Amino acid sequence: VSLKNFNTFGVEANAKYLVEINHENELTELFLDPKWLTFPRLVLGGGSNVLFTKDFEGLVIRMNIRGIEHRINHEEVYVEAGAGESWNELVNYCVAYGFAGMENLSLIPGSVGASPVQNIGAYGVELKDVFESCQAFEIATQQIKTFAKEVCGFGYRESIFKGALKNQFIITSVKFKLSLQPTVNTKYGAIEEELRKWEITNPTIQDISKVVSHIRVSKLPDPSTIGNAGSFFKNPIIGPGEFEELKNKFPAVANYPAGNNQIKLAAGWLIEQCGWKGKTVGKTGTWQNQALVLVNHGGASGEQIFALSSQIIDSVYNKFGVKLDREVNIL
Ligand code: FAD
Ligand code: EPU
Repeated sequence: VSLKNFNTFGVEANAKYLVEINHENELTELFLDPKWLTFPRLVLGGGSNVLFTKDFEGLVIRMNIRGIEHRINHEEVYVEAGAGESWNELVNYCVAYGFAGMENLSLIPGSVGASPVQNIGAYGVELKDVFESCQAFEIATQQIKTFAKEVCGFGYRESIFKGALKNQFIITSVKFKLSLQPTVNTKYGAIEEELRKWEITNPTIQDISKVVSHIRVSKLPDPSTIGNAGSFFKNPIIGPGEFEELKNKFPAVANYPAGNNQIKLAAGWLIEQCGWKGKTVGKTGTWQNQALVLVNHGGASGEQIFALSSQIIDSVYNKFGVKLDREVNIL
């Protein structure tokens, strides 16, 4: 089965088997056949955070469980969505109802079920800020378990589902806690700048959603026309000593406090300084408006994109002594 339409890089790769799951009962049915228990498996939502570098010699499980429900309790509202819902459609649903909390996460591609996996984040908000719990199917026991926020190990682009429990659970639904009080988060610099331009002084959550969407469209390539998976690397986090040294050599180094005395560097800045921004290498390249995004200019293979990422890692390391880690899941 071709996976070309199931990954936003648009690279060619085949899976041995593919199954689409529309209801959690279908997971139970699937694993009644013990052969799948030992087979290599890959759970896929929108395929917007994966890079296939070769064929997948196993079973791809595409999550398509739908449904959004909400329950209002005084000033709070609980929204529960199926893993196969589109993340952005869920955000639009909440923004339209006036449920505040996820508007800064507008226009992130992919599915609801993948959102806890790397604790998606953008424009000053992370998934963990609105996450209440999720339900996940445990492959070994074929039971559905509930994960409260405290046990999910959320960090920057990090969770237990990517770490200790990798490949053991399939998230089937996610529950969010939002607010009916319109508190807005404008602490990410670019939002305030944009609000000033638009002369919005008292932004609603609808305004925030619009502004964030506008900024994103101006910076990020649309996967429906140019293959990509968003940021290819994580922003590196370093300690104060290492940061002092770096800043002495490169006073302009883009950085943010990351808590616990740590400093987060802007990987896009590091990559741009090495001369990679907007550069084309064969059918691959980096995006002209965001050097952190690797792109498929058409017909590139996953291997070629991976090779470019290795070159970038080497060149950033040689110039700055900082090691970039890939954010995209490599398969
Ligand atoms: P997939 O790519 O299908 O899967 C990603 C990983 O999660 C895989 O390891 C997969 O096995 C696992 N997985 C998926 N579904 C489940 C499930 N139900 N249960 C268990 N495991 C599962 N990310 C951000 O955080 N912030 C951004 O601002 C952002 N911007 C982006 C912009 C663009 C243009 C693009 C293309 C991507 C961007 N991303 C961003 C990355 C991506 O959108 C997110 O990581 C998203 O959550 C991936 O969802 P998906 O359904 O496509 O996941
Ligand atoms: N920068 C450059 N050159 C570039 C790109 C960025 O100098 O080519 C500098 C800019 O000057 C800016 C800083 O880097 O000051 C940060 O840039 P930006 O606001 O675009 O954010 P980012 O750190 O590059 C992160 C996330 C994005 C998320 C945005 C907005 C990671 C790995 N990436 O990017 O997430 O949308 O912040 O919050 O943390 C994704 O994960 O796929 C993704 C797109």
